[in-house]
Amino acid sequence: MRADDAGSGRAVLVTGAAGFIGSNLVSRLLEDGRRVVGVDDLSTGSLRNLGEAREAHAGRFSFDRLDVRRGGLDAVVARHRPEVIFHLAAQVDVRRSVEDPLHDAEVNVLGTIAVLEAARRHGVRKLVYASSIGSYGEPDEAQLPVDESFTTPALSPYGASKRVAIDYLRTYEALGGPTWTALTLGNVYGPKQTTSGEGGVVATFIGRMLQGAPVTIYGDGEQSRDLVFVDDVVHAFVLAADRGDRERYTIGTGTRTTVNQLFTALAAATGYPHDPVREPARAGEVRHSSLDSRRAGRDLGWKPWTTLEEGLAATLRWASGSGALT
Ligand SMILES: NC(=O)c1ccc[n+]([C@@H]2O[C@H](COP(=O)([O-])OP(=O)(O)OC[C@H]3O[C@@H](n4cnc5c(N)ncnc54)[C@H](O)[C@@H]3O)[C@@H](O)[C@H]2O)c1
Repeated sequence: MRADDAGSGRAVLVTGAAGFIGSNLVSRLLEDGRRVVGVDDLSTGSLRNLGEAREAHAGRFSFDRLDVRRGGLDAVVARHRPEVIFHLAAQVDVRRSVEDPLHDAEVNVLGTIAVLEAARRHGVRKLVYASSIGSYGEPDEAQLPVDESFTTPALSPYGASKRVAIDYLRTYEALGGPTWTALTLGNVYGPKQTTSGEGGVVATFIGRMLQGAPVTIYGDGEQSRDLVFVDDVVHAFVLAADRGDRERYTIGTGTRTTVNQLFTALAAATGYPHDPVREPARAGEVRHSSLDSRRAGRDLGWKPWTTLEEGLAATLRWASGSGALT
C-alpha cells in the first residue's frame, strides 16, 4: 500500500470484517497504520473477532453491522470514501449452497454487484476479491499443483457463485468501476476460524481434540488439501491493494497435506489419545488440492512463509487461550 496513505490517508473498507479472514485482515491493516472501515451482517461472523481492533485502534476503526445487499452499504461508502475495498463477505458454506443455491447466489453474486455499485458510485480505486479454489472443480493428478490456467467447472453452487462474481469485476471496471484483483485461496486456517464453512478441517479437529471428543475422518483420509495460514493470506490481500490489477492469483503453499497427516500432527500437538472415527467419503468432495502460486510471487511479491507446524501451533495457542472452539 502506498506510504502516503498511511495513518491519516484514505480509508480502506473490509466486507465480511467480523469473519475469520476478514477480522485477521482488519488487524493487519490497523497494524499497518490504515484507517479501516469494517462491515458485516454477523450472519456467521462475530463481534468477538473484532474486540481487539475496536479497543486498540478505536480512533482508526469503525464498524457497521449491515448486509451488503441492502442500501446501508452505499451510505457507508459515501461517508468514508475508501480507496480500496477488500470484498470478503460471502455465503461460505458449500453444503448450504447445494441445499439453497438461490440464497448462495443472492449473497455471493448480488452481494458482489451491490459492493461494485457502491464502489463505482463513490470513486473507489480498487476492489480485492476473495475467490476460492472451490470454484475450479476436480484436478487430475497430473495437473497438481494447479495454477491460474486451471478452470474446470465448479462442483457446487458456492464455487459457481464465487466464480461468476469475477466476471462482474471485469464488467464493472469496463463501466468505470474500480480496478480489481481476485485471490483464489486454498484451504485457509488459523486463529479465529470456526468449525463451520469452508476449510474448517483444522478448526474442527482442534476443537474436537481439545474437548476429548470423537474426531471423524470421512473416506480413507488420504484426500489432501493445500492448507495456507491466515497471516500469509492476509499479506496477499495487502499486497494486492497496489499490485496485480485485472488478474486472478492462486494463493496456496503448493504442499498437499492429507487429512490423515493433519490428524496425526494435531493429535501429537494436543496429546489426543484416541483413533479417528472412520465414516464413508462424502459426495462432491475434491480428492486432492494444491496450488501453484508462482505467478503471485512474480507479480505481487507474495510467498507463504509460515510452515504447517508453525501455523498449527499458532492456531492451537489461540484455541487453547480463547476457548473459542471448545
Ligand atoms: N476460509 C477459507 O478457506 C476460504 C477459502 C477460499 C475462499 N474463501 C473466501 O474468503 C472469504 C472469507 O471467508 P471466511 O473463511 O473468513 O468465512 P467467514 O464466514 O468467517 O466470513 C464471511 C463473513 O461475511 C459475513 N457475511 C455473510 N453474508 C453477508 C452479507 N450479506 N453482508 C455482510 N456480511 C456478510 C459473515 O457474517 C462473515 O463474517 C469468503 O469470501 C470466502 O468465500 C475462504
